[in-house]
Amino acid sequence: LSRLDSFIRRMQAQRLLINQAVAAISSLEGPVLEFGLGNGRTYHHLRERLPQRRIIAFDIKVTAHQDSVPPAEDLVLGDIRETAPHFIGCEAVLIHLDIGTGVEECDQRTQAWLAPLVPKLLAPRGLAISGLALEVSDLEPLPLPDAIGDGRYFYYRRA
Ligand SMILES: C[S@@+](CC[C@H](N)C(=O)[O-])C[C@H]1O[C@@H](n2cnc3c(N)ncnc32)[C@H](O)[C@@H]1O
Repeated sequence: LSRLDSFIRRMQAQRLLINQAVAAISSLEGPVLEFGLGNGRTYHHLRERLPQRRIIAFDIKVTAHQDSVPPAEDLVLGDIRETAPHFIGCEAVLIHLDIGTGVEECDQRTQAWLAPLVPKLLAPRGLAISGLALEVSDLEPLPLPDAIGDGRYFYYRRA
């Protein structure tokens, strides 16, 4: 599988899970958190699908396309490891996390602080969609649609 093929499959998995989660949270109240604004493509998609919802995006810096930069009050700049704990208790109904690097050693360091943090940010039964596995007992893995290969993307609900 070429890196291009792998990237396309990852993006397809991301979109499929986001669309599924958007439907699942429609009757719930609470913000959506986007970890890793990057170019802002995913933020743009979330914005389109959830026009009434507060979506708070996090990144170390702004590199997003100008159409995909959140308003200042919904943009949190700095290392997520330091900024996100200020949002504990925000009762997010959905968190999308795309902050993996593909470098195993680096991603393992991220997973070590990220996995315990995510359930503290979620409302009860809130959902997390992540490019990195988040293995903690407070997050229950949800079944993936058949189209998503094992390990390509991860889907959880706060237990
Ligand atoms: C793969 S990109 C996200 C792409 C995004 N989903 C999009 O649609 O463009 C990952 C982003 O996460 C950010 N990031 C990674 N680790 C971070 C951290 N610890 N704190 C803040 N931002 C981080 C990087 O700066 C980068 O912009």
